[in-house]
Order: sequence, then C-alpha cells, then structure tokens
Amino acid sequence: MTTTHQFSGRTFLFLLASSRLDGNTETLAREAAAALPDGVEQEWLRLKDLPVPAFEDRRHDGPGIYPEPVGNSRVLLDATLSATDLVVASPLYWYSLSASAQLYLDHWSGWMRVPGLDFKPRMGGKTMWSITALSSEDRSMADPLIGTLRNCAAYMGMQWGGSLLGLGNAPGTVRDDAEALRAAGEFFVTDRASVTV
Ligand SMILES: Cc1cc2nc3c(=O)[nH]c(=O)nc-3n(C[C@H](O)[C@H](O)[C@H](O)COP(=O)(O)O)c2cc1C
Repeated sequence: MTTTHQFSGRTFLFLLASSRLDGNTETLAREAAAALPDGVEQEWLRLKDLPVPAFEDRRHDGPGIYPEPVGNSRVLLDATLSATDLVVASPLYWYSLSASAQLYLDHWSGWMRVPGLDFKPRMGGKTMWSITALSSEDRSMADPLIGTLRNCAAYMGMQWGGSLLGLGNAPGTVRDDAEALRAAGEFFVTDRASVTV
C-alpha cells in the first residue's frame, strides 16, 4: 500500500550508469520512477555525462590528503548528499556494476576522508536501491552486483530498498519483459515494512 506521507521530504537521486543512451536500465528506472507520487523530488544524473578522474588510493599517504571535490565530482557528491534515496541504475557488465558505477563508488572512499565533510555519517539513514538490465535469463547472474550494492549500503549505515531486474539486450527490449515492467510499477511504492521475505 502506498501512503503519501511515506514519501514526504524524500528526494530520489537516479544515477544512470550505462555506457549508452536510452538503454534498458534507464527504461526500467523511468518506469519505476513514474510510479512515485507526484511531488516526490527526483534528480537524474548520467554518469557518462559527468566523467570523474581515475580514483587513486591515497588513504595511507597522510591526513587530509583528499581535497574538497571539484567539478563533476562535486556535482555527484552534492547530489548524493542531498538525496534521501540513492538509485544506482547500472546495467549488468561482467556480472557486476558498470565501470562508471564502480568508479563513482570508489570515489566514496576519498569523500569519506575529505576533512570536515562527514560523508559517511551523512550517508547513514539514506536508502539505496538497485535497478539493472541484463541479457541473461538466469537472474542469479546479477547476484554479485546486488551483493556489492547491499554491502556498500550496509557499510555506510544505509538502508537497503531493494533490487529491480529486467531482461533486455538491444535497447528497448526490456519492454518485452512484462514481469519486470509490473515489478517496476511497484518497486518504490510497496510498503517494504509489510513485505515478507
Ligand atoms: C561490457 C558488457 C558486459 C556485459 N556483461 C553481461 C553479463 O555479465 N551478464 C548479462 O546477463 N549481460 C551482460 N551484458 C549485457 C547487458 O547487461 C544488457 O545488454 C543490458 O540490457 C544493457 O543495459 P543498457 O541497455 O541499460 O545499457 C553485458 C554487456 C556489455 C556491453
């Protein structure tokens, strides 16, 4: 059951992580978003349009080694912190996240260490969601991707919203997956507290 109050004050950030435009993952994400009640704030960012530098592990080079993010990194950081709900919409690439989604998550490691940013505590309590298109009929092939996001969410003290999968290969073919479209319509709006798993 959907109640409007369950969405009050929430902002959904959709991070589109396909390497192509108008792919199946985006189609599925837009289907799911269409079921959000009017007035629920949505922000859509395409990682492909916001390239960020290669991540460098400088954790052990000394304190304060990660500077304040600038440019596209800053855009992603600010959008991430402003959202209450983070929707990672990545196609399944080699059983896991696309490179742009992985790189975005790698940068979290730096953001956690920017002095004064308090990234990790500020992520706590947000909700992480996963939306993925894959070409394999065996949906368990996406378990590594879902496990990655679930574990990242748990590490950051975030809640896990759930995962939505759709079968598709050429752009648009996810529309042939009737079950995925049905699930998309319920994805965000099912009261998880009442779902038995
Ligand atoms: C680099 C690459 C790796 C892929 N790896 C997998 C895979 O491991 N399992 C799978 O089922 N599909 C795989 N696919 C197929 C995509 O998941 C599928 O075409 C999906 O619909 C693409 O989503 P998009 O249209 O949102 O980009 C791969 C595609 C590419 C380009």
